[in-house]
Amino acid sequence: MSWDQVWIDINIATMDPTSNTPYGAITQGAIAIQAGKIAWIGKQKDLPEFDHLATPVYRGKGGWITPGIIDAHTHLVFAGNRAQEFEQRLNGASYEEIALAGGGILSTVKACREASEAELFELGRQRLNTLAKEGVTTVEIKSGYGLDTETELKLLRVARDLGQYHHIDVKTTFLGAHAIPPEYKDKTDDYIELVINDMLPKIIENNLADAVDVFCEKIAFNLEQTEKVLLAAKKAGLDIKLHAEQLSNLGGSSMAAKHGALSVDHIEFIDEKSIEVLSQNGTCATLLPGAFYSLRETQLPPIQLLRKYNIPMVVASDYNPGSSPICSSTLMLNMSCILFKLTPEEALKGMTFNAAKALNMDSEIGSLEIGKKADFCLWDIDTPAQLAYTYGVNPCLQVVKAGQVILS
Ligand code: NIG
Ligand code: FE
Repeated sequence: MSWDQVWIDINIATMDPTSNTPYGAITQGAIAIQAGKIAWIGKQKDLPEFDHLATPVYRGKGGWITPGIIDAHTHLVFAGNRAQEFEQRLNGASYEEIALAGGGILSTVKACREASEAELFELGRQRLNTLAKEGVTTVEIKSGYGLDTETELKLLRVARDLGQYHHIDVKTTFLGAHAIPPEYKDKTDDYIELVINDMLPKIIENNLADAVDVFCEKIAFNLEQTEKVLLAAKKAGLDIKLHAEQLSNLGGSSMAAKHGALSVDHIEFIDEKSIEVLSQNGTCATLLPGAFYSLRETQLPPIQLLRKYNIPMVVASDYNPGSSPICSSTLMLNMSCILFKLTPEEALKGMTFNAAKALNMDSEIGSLEIGKKADFCLWDIDTPAQLAYTYGVNPCLQVVKAGQVILS
């Protein structure tokens, strides 16, 4: 056998759903890599003979390998911060009140309009570095802090550039309908026209987005406006997804699922009927414990119902300066267990296999199987549950991207 490299002395949480062990675990395993992909995986004792002199062999010292962590919902290209708003909230104002008074998302919009592309790129690069240290290999980044054509395009260009220049792979999502910009106050329908007829065509022309998202909420866009944007996106051949049922139930989840949304995100207020619609359409449920925690939400997403209908549950950071100012994907493993009572296995699946599904990348990444990309991490842990159990001691020893060690 001739391989580019071989990993031995490892335990593997493959997260392969066809495996019948928890976490798809292979103890005392081995992985062989060829052309950036997994060419062989199994028990080390079954590893076929290979040329030991010609093949680099990496030894994992008995640690665990998991698929690279995938953060399927972030807003990580932004300028400024919202510590002042954080303080206001601690002094009694609510997230909605701040938004309605022109703060919140709109204050980040102001900072992003003023920031140069180079500044935004540098901020994004530093954030990706922080995530990579915790084993993240793929990230989704949304626009939505421009709310005018020029700035929305700028944010998406930065996200695309980050994907090109950073080891982490980036999927980009156009979230022009994130909030109503000050210029369109009381003219929301006109703004939706701008999103559909001006921003979207330019984004498509320049191939700047893989998907389109909308914030469907009382303080943002109603069901009808949301549907218009999603249908235009679909018509243009882009994937769709939705910020839905975060603060109230407007029915966005079932509407988006009917149109084939990859995921509906937040969904604390989703009802059983809508969950049924998700199951009929293969739509994932993206849980965002960082926003739930930071906004001190009390309405829990209905995990039992999501389990009942077998909905793929995704866990993501929602990293943004307002509702989830937490640049840590692995903290979400812990928070999803503590706050939402996911099992550690569900949490890890939510940041690997199911996260890949939510990004329409499940044929390439998300689990360790022959033919998939060799994106994985080596962790200094005794059992996979330790990833969700502890926080603050980063057990990530090495990160491998398409077969290349990018961090060690
Ligand atoms: O996912 N819900 C809407 N959008 C973001 C928050 C953005 C912000 O507050 O800046 C979210 O929570
Ligand atoms: Fe979000």
